Amino acid sequence: MTVEQRYRRIYKPLVWIGSLLPLAWLLGRGFGVGGGSLGADPAEEILRTCGKTALNLLLLTLAVTPLRQIARAPQLLRLRRLLGLFAFFHAMLHLVAYVVLELQFDWPMLGEDVAKRPYITIGFVAVALLAALAATSTQRAMRRLGRRWQRLHWGIYPAAVLGVWHYGWQVKADLREPLVYAGILALLLGWRLWKRRAALTSTSGSSTAPGRT
Ligand code: HEM
Repeated sequence: MTVEQRYRRIYKPLVWIGSLLPLAWLLGRGFGVGGGSLGADPAEEILRTCGKTALNLLLLTLAVTPLRQIARAPQLLRLRRLLGLFAFFHAMLHLVAYVVLELQFDWPMLGEDVAKRPYITIGFVAVALLAALAATSTQRAMRRLGRRWQRLHWGIYPAAVLGVWHYGWQVKADLREPLVYAGILALLLGWRLWKRRAALTSTSGSSTAPGRT
């Protein structure tokens, strides 16, 4: 099988299935399939599942580059865009669940929440960043924006930091899980800084090496 065939027949379907599974699980429980249910507070369960899935997919998107470098599998890069789009999709579902199920379309209340509740404010900024990345994720946008595209897409880093922060901020008592997310994010960002430093050191080292000036 060629790299292209492996991407189309194995990796891409796996990402689709894995990314939509939490939603299928929610729908299944919502419709009582197999005697399942969404528990005592279905709105909260939906809101939490979509938020958690968005964050998981965002971190997975950031894990593609280190995995690609460690496994020496450049073809994995193509999964990054798909994972990022699914992260945005679930973040939007999370926002829609909040507006529809929690606020019951009370738009002035949404404005008030965004302005006055800091954890909602940072969640909102994270969604706005993800929307900008999703809107410019096409090959066409990439060509049109040129070098600016790369800079714009660094927006995924603040989006992930804000997503984890948003999670940690709304937790009332047990901070263990948000801290695990923060640790994973620190590792993923630390890896990039370390690689960048190593690349800079080797460039400056080779430019001063004898016979290479
Ligand atoms: C306008 C944007 C957003 C709004 C209004 C919003 C709203 C909320 C609310 C109200 C909760 C608390 C639910 C509760 O009390 O149990 C929550 C939890 C959460 N949100 Fe958001 N959120 C937004 C954006 C995001 C984004 C961008 C992410 C991730 C990328 C995210 C991830 C989470 C997570 C992981 C939780 C905790 C889930 C859990 O307790 O298991 N949210 N969000």
